[in-house]
Amino acid sequence: MMAPRRGHKWFAAWYDRMCARAAYLGPVRRELAGGATGRVLEVGCGTGANFEYYPPEAQVVATEPDPYMLARARRRARESGRRLALVQAVAENLPFSDASFDVVVATLVFCSVDDPGRALAEVTRVLRPGGELRFFEHVRYDGGLLALAQDAVAPIWSWFGAGCHPNRDLTRLLAEAGLEVVRLERSKPLPPLPPMCLARPHVLGVARVP
Ligand SMILES: C[S@@+](CC[C@H](N)C(=O)[O-])C[C@H]1O[C@@H](n2cnc3c(N)ncnc32)[C@H](O)[C@@H]1O
Repeated sequence: MMAPRRGHKWFAAWYDRMCARAAYLGPVRRELAGGATGRVLEVGCGTGANFEYYPPEAQVVATEPDPYMLARARRRARESGRRLALVQAVAENLPFSDASFDVVVATLVFCSVDDPGRALAEVTRVLRPGGELRFFEHVRYDGGLLALAQDAVAPIWSWFGAGCHPNRDLTRLLAEAGLEVVRLERSKPLPPLPPMCLARPHVLGVARVP
């Protein structure tokens, strides 16, 4: 059982209404959750915006540490009609056995975890050999002024964004976790205007446990 976490009541409400079901995320959720079969783990499920997209036959366990996000996710799980188990847990310490899942789904999560290296090590541990992480994340620019701006605003961004970091290098973190990237698509779905230009580019992909 996870130690109680304070959570972000107002961020959860704002995120649920303003971000979780943004139009650009619909096709992403359909692609990532819709293609997840077998024993599926979703980490940092937030308010449960992926739930309605899982195939009905998938056996889904969704984790989320924030109690306010989790309360909304419970409601969405009921509404989705899917058989879903919800567990309060951080991605850095997953309460599951080694190699117990076929697929892990993560959307907009590794920007927010405290220790992304440890979280990805846990994802690798709970996936079976050949299992896949299906992800969609916003990441640091490869370089240039916008990357430096992301680094500069990271502390204040994180304070306002419930721990979100705009400048994570996910590709490097995946490699360090021993995951093999088999698909990676970059996009810039948000407008090139401040402040949202700092929460892009995005990467959608699949990484496998060798
Ligand atoms: C931007 S929201 C994304 C929520 C959801 N995945 C989605 O696609 O809408 C980031 C989520 O990561 C969760 N989170 C923060 N720290 C975490 C951690 N250490 N482990 C797992 N999830 C975490 C937050 O509580 C929040 O629900």
